[in-house]
Amino acid sequence: MNDLSPDGGAAALSVAIASKDHQRAGGPALRALEGLRLTLPLGQAGAVVGPSGCGKTTLLRLIAGLDRDFTGQIVLPAHGRLGMVFQEPRLLPWRSVADNLRIAAPEADEAGIAALLAELGLRDHADHFPGELSLGLARRVALARALAVKPDLLLLDEPLVSLDAALARELRERIAALIDEKRITTLIVTHDLPEAIALADRIFLLSPRPAHVIATLDVEAPRGRLTRAAADALETRARAALEASRRAFQ
Ligand SMILES: Nc1ncnc2c1ncn2[C@@H]1O[C@H](COP(=O)(O)OP(=O)(O)OP(=O)(O)O)[C@@H](O)[C@H]1O
Ligand SMILES: [Mg+2]
Repeated sequence: MNDLSPDGGAAALSVAIASKDHQRAGGPALRALEGLRLTLPLGQAGAVVGPSGCGKTTLLRLIAGLDRDFTGQIVLPAHGRLGMVFQEPRLLPWRSVADNLRIAAPEADEAGIAALLAELGLRDHADHFPGELSLGLARRVALARALAVKPDLLLLDEPLVSLDAALARELRERIAALIDEKRITTLIVTHDLPEAIALADRIFLLSPRPAHVIATLDVEAPRGRLTRAAADALETRARAALEASRRAFQ
């Protein structure tokens, strides 16, 4: 039963998951999430940070409505239009980059698609097929595709994972600029604290599985404009909280 209710207020996204179990063939169900609550105000960027395998992707799939088998309640922003970037880019391999956007957002006009491709540095790749792209470019296409639907909520699952440091920094800066400019409520899953601190207004730290939020940290300065010392202090605090929770689960 739903024994949790989300916080009220002006939250754009409100999540209160009592429990989420994964059914497994030939074994007991695996509890991925338990007592997980978070709220994100309209127009803010939140980062979900937690250890590998703790349930981050599971959480994003529930928020996206791709999996409805859980107890609890999730309230999405008004209109509830979602843009999602999966951990793997998942582009349609037999369609060009531009067609991947057109198919995801049939109501988008050609000028809008061209502008998005330009914003993400993809103008020269519009007619390429996904197989011709590097991982960094494929990630940018996946991001452009998610933005093409003009989402009320943008969900990003580890958008920078497996990119080398320079590419990750470049894409991180583009993501930060896009969410600042478009003011889309955004939830980013990552296991990388500096990435979370650079991108988010609010950071949700998760426990090991079954995941719940062990601490919520608000980033005081405007996103990306923290002093080095403030960013370091935040990172130290977050690491201590994650480490304490890891020990408690051992
Ligand atoms: N469809 C599924 N069926 C069974 N178990 C699953 C399923 N999806 C995920 N799990 C299990 O649930 C747990 C949480 O998985 P999830 O992918 O949500 O974690 P994660 O935090 O995103 O991990 P990572 O950091 O590796 O991306 C893991 O133990 C995983 O093996
Ligand atoms: Mg994951």
